[in-house]
Amino acid sequence: MRRTVIAGNWKMNMTPKKTAEFIKALAPMVAGKDKCDIVLCVPAIDIPAAVEAAKGTNIKIGAENVHFKASGAYTGEISAEMLVEAGVEYVVIGHSERRQYFGETDKTVNLRTLAALEAGLKAIVCVGETLEERELGYTETLLKYQTKMALTNVKAEQLKNVIVAYEPVWAIGTGVTATAEQADEGNGFVRAAIAEAFGNDAAESITVQYGGSMNDGNAAELLSKVNVDGGLIGGASLKTDKFTAIVDAANA
Ligand code: 13P
Repeated sequence: MRRTVIAGNWKMNMTPKKTAEFIKALAPMVAGKDKCDIVLCVPAIDIPAAVEAAKGTNIKIGAENVHFKASGAYTGEISAEMLVEAGVEYVVIGHSERRQYFGETDKTVNLRTLAALEAGLKAIVCVGETLEERELGYTETLLKYQTKMALTNVKAEQLKNVIVAYEPVWAIGTGVTATAEQADEGNGFVRAAIAEAFGNDAAESITVQYGGSMNDGNAAELLSKVNVDGGLIGGASLKTDKFTAIVDAANA
């Protein structure tokens, strides 16, 4: 059985103070809902507050990026070792916003993934096509390419710490959700790429999330699909009630 993972990606939202308040409010709402892993990926500055507030709860804390070098002259960057020592367990890598605005490439996504795994972090690796790429008919090719590139040189035994999030770029923050069928198909392309690169058993056991305007209203249908093993949630992860409703959908 694949593990369902419901992860919030807060992006550039919330301060340390708001983080502590949010998690204190959320914790009792999601307590005992253990049919899925519950993760909040938060801005770096919010990590200490998040880790402290999540102590003794079933909420796990993730970062939104990690640098691929262990240390050195990389002003503004954060290493995997720093994240681990701060109590972080997960890290989002290669989000489309980083690809779009911060020069992230398939190569750097791969390097970050390798560094995260080497440090013992769980990597949430994001892939997804733009609307133009979809309309040109490149979705399958692109998702398979991005997935394989991101996981180049990942060892088979490290795959248990890899989650792939299929996030169609056209569905992120737009309110336009992929239909459950489109999500299932996209996640299926990712799984097929894993099968091609690592074999069928690996493909069957890897968690593949869907992300892109997932919310309290559509989560149940999306999560009902065979290839959708959870969600990576932006906007709706900033509201305790909406995020809880998604966790509930995963626990139904
Ligand atoms: P929204 O849920 O706000 O569309 O964001 C999705 C996302 O990018 C999660 O990483």
